[in-house]
Amino acid sequence: MCVLAPKFIWIGQIMDNSPLVAAQDASITENQNNSDTPIQPSIGTEFDRKIMQRCLHLARRALGCTSPNPLVGAVIVKDGEIVGEGFHPRAGEPHAEVFALRNAGARARGATIYVNLEPCNHHGRTPPCSQALVKAGVTKVVVGMVDPNPLVAGGGIATLQAAGIEVLAGVEEADCRLLNEGFIHRILYHQPFGILKYAMTLDGKIATSSGHSTWVTNYIARQTVHRLRAACDAVIVGGNTVRQDNPYLTNHGQGNHHPLRVVMSRHLDLPTNANLWDASIAPTVVLTEVDANPEFKTLLRHKGVEVVELNPLTPEQVMAYLYERGFCSVLWECGGILAANAIAQGAVQKVLAFIAPKIIGGSNAPTPVGDLGFTTMSEALSLEGVEICAVGSDCLITGYLPKS
Ligand SMILES: NC(=O)c1ccc[n+]([C@@H]2O[C@H](COP(=O)([O-])OP(=O)(O)OC[C@H]3O[C@@H](n4cnc5c(N)ncnc54)[C@H](OP(=O)(O)O)[C@@H]3O)[C@@H](O)[C@H]2O)c1
Repeated sequence: MCVLAPKFIWIGQIMDNSPLVAAQDASITENQNNSDTPIQPSIGTEFDRKIMQRCLHLARRALGCTSPNPLVGAVIVKDGEIVGEGFHPRAGEPHAEVFALRNAGARARGATIYVNLEPCNHHGRTPPCSQALVKAGVTKVVVGMVDPNPLVAGGGIATLQAAGIEVLAGVEEADCRLLNEGFIHRILYHQPFGILKYAMTLDGKIATSSGHSTWVTNYIARQTVHRLRAACDAVIVGGNTVRQDNPYLTNHGQGNHHPLRVVMSRHLDLPTNANLWDASIAPTVVLTEVDANPEFKTLLRHKGVEVVELNPLTPEQVMAYLYERGFCSVLWECGGILAANAIAQGAVQKVLAFIAPKIIGGSNAPTPVGDLGFTTMSEALSLEGVEICAVGSDCLITGYLPKS
């Protein structure tokens, strides 16, 4: 077994093909890998891989909009030329293959279609894509990855092959899996994919001893976080972060979609005027407990903020609730107390740590992760699939928590 060293990317701006940090140009993406995905040998020709990257590029146009469905793009090629393209814009709308077939019209007959996820084989809100492809007369289907749902995996490919269509699967598979890591996690574990993002100084502080934290990182790093928000279904903070930072948690113009802003507060001892209560910018839900501050619940509801009671109010329950809402990717942008709870309860799978070359000191200044109950270094959670990149003068370390 080969143990990979962390990958270093030295660039002025993050160029990542994951939904979490969306690159605008497929040609500048890097091959990525996560702990679920062994490094694949290159499958298909260079042309196949280039067209599959085009599918991923198209799929990214719907970042943050498709849950509980995946991000999918499709490209139809005939005689070496693209004759049709499409992507899945949101749940309930036709799938990417259908848009590409409409775009290609009669030119689809005898053509090859590329799609980053195995065509569906079941009647959902839309008819099966496998049958639409058979009907359209395509002769070859190039697939990025098979459907992760163990109950249907391979069914779409089997239907195509039974109809005499040639199928090539696994082209750019690592990138295809990365783009849909939230969707895959949701299907396999019945929970949204949790991402913990934090920004800290070189001496490991996320705020000063007084709680002041704007800004730890530089402008490019903050823009990267705004893109990350646009790619996620929800972003979560705790009551202390609302009291200390009064955040907006929006995409600040870095995407087409604002995540649902989620506040976890047991006591509802929160400011009456907070940026998060302005529901005209983006929706907010406050998750709290049954007995907490009834007057404040009424005030929030009058402002158009949703209030939901969960008993007990824990990260685990919150993820179960967000799963029921159909979410794939959830961003934890909280401080250390809540982050430690979220990690301990399995609500975090991926970590993005921004590190600024600043020293603030302060023995009581908060750190990114509170008490996990560990007493020896051998208990430390060692991230897997680690990548390190420069973000201007700051640094971003990304990795996956080991599965417990
Ligand atoms: N640099 C960064 O990346 C970054 C990001 C976020 C925050 N911060 C800083 O971090 C500090 C706040 O961190 P924090 O960890 O104290 O606050 P936090 O992220 O707001 O989390 C703690 C709060 O979450 C609420 N909560 C609800 N259910 C909980 C549960 N089951 N377990 C734990 N908490 C639960 C409680 O709110 P109630 O008290 O209202 O009940 C609790 O006070 C601030 O100084 C802020 O500026 C920095």
